[in-house]
Amino acid sequence: MPAIRTTTLPTGEAVPVLGQGTWYMGEDSSRHGEEVAALRLGIDLGMTLIDTAEMYASGGAERVVADAVAGRRDEVFIVSKVLPSNASRHGVESACERSLVRLKTDVIDLYLLHWRGSVALSETVEAFEALKAAGKIRHWGVSNFDTDDMEELLALPAGSAVQTNQVLYNLGRRGIEHDLIPWCRTRRIPIMAYSPVEQGSLATSSRLADVARRHGASPAQIALAWTMRHDGVIAIPKASRPEHVRDNRAALDIDLTAEDLTELDRLFPPPRSKQPLEMI
Ligand SMILES: NC(=O)c1ccc[n+]([C@@H]2O[C@H](COP(=O)([O-])OP(=O)(O)OC[C@H]3O[C@@H](n4cnc5c(N)ncnc54)[C@H](OP(=O)(O)O)[C@@H]3O)[C@@H](O)[C@H]2O)c1
Repeated sequence: MPAIRTTTLPTGEAVPVLGQGTWYMGEDSSRHGEEVAALRLGIDLGMTLIDTAEMYASGGAERVVADAVAGRRDEVFIVSKVLPSNASRHGVESACERSLVRLKTDVIDLYLLHWRGSVALSETVEAFEALKAAGKIRHWGVSNFDTDDMEELLALPAGSAVQTNQVLYNLGRRGIEHDLIPWCRTRRIPIMAYSPVEQGSLATSSRLADVARRHGASPAQIALAWTMRHDGVIAIPKASRPEHVRDNRAALDIDLTAEDLTELDRLFPPPRSKQPLEMI
């Protein structure tokens, strides 16, 4: 299998354009082994960016990640997120310490503000910068930020240190193509596309059947290949079944043709005007 395609963070570090999500992992202890195995298989296949959050299973997903990366921490780029209710200067510091313990690691590669809350953005950014200086996180970023939030962020003294904006993006949720994606692309800030198969529903979409058939692929693979069709977008599907992990990795080898893209635009029309950012 060829090496996985990468994109570049603003710091210059390369990360795979296809990672692994973990929402709903860690909820049920009887599934722990299967979830760990799925993430380990994904790492074996090159999907070495793993996205998690303190929110997922109230820390349970971070514990699954800890077991998945045991003995191979250096191979993996771990992304975790702090809740807006913990986004104060001291709240971020304590939340990060708790995540580090659950993840059984000394450092989080990329730490995101999960969504904006009532804490001033400047305070959260200061807290992120302090964590970076202390070696607890390597980089920081944001999630669920619309264009005006990004403008506000970049106007802050350390705001330009942001490494990504993780947002909802898939064939059925194309609103950000109108302004947020071009805005980020101009500034070379990658988008991290969450729910790239719309929590599984695009995997059974009959609208994707014809394109999928032409490529001998599954609808989920077409949805993923489409999401990653341009540089600067990182997709983070969650898969706990090994066949889904393999399917997702193989989506990187699909080259959608101009004809495919035209057909997908007809079936899933792009936005014609600014759309408010959607969240799941
Ligand atoms: N920042 C945020 O606010 C935010 C919000 C939502 C999600 N996220 C992150 O983004 C990740 C992905 O989003 P998501 O979990 O909401 O949805 P998703 O990745 O679009 O969909 C996950 C669902 O699709 C199924 N699936 C995955 N690959 C498949 C394939 N090849 N064929 C058929 N079914 C497949 C999975 O099944 P199995 O598990 O049974 O394999 C699971 O039920 C999350 O896990 C989380 O890390 C972030």
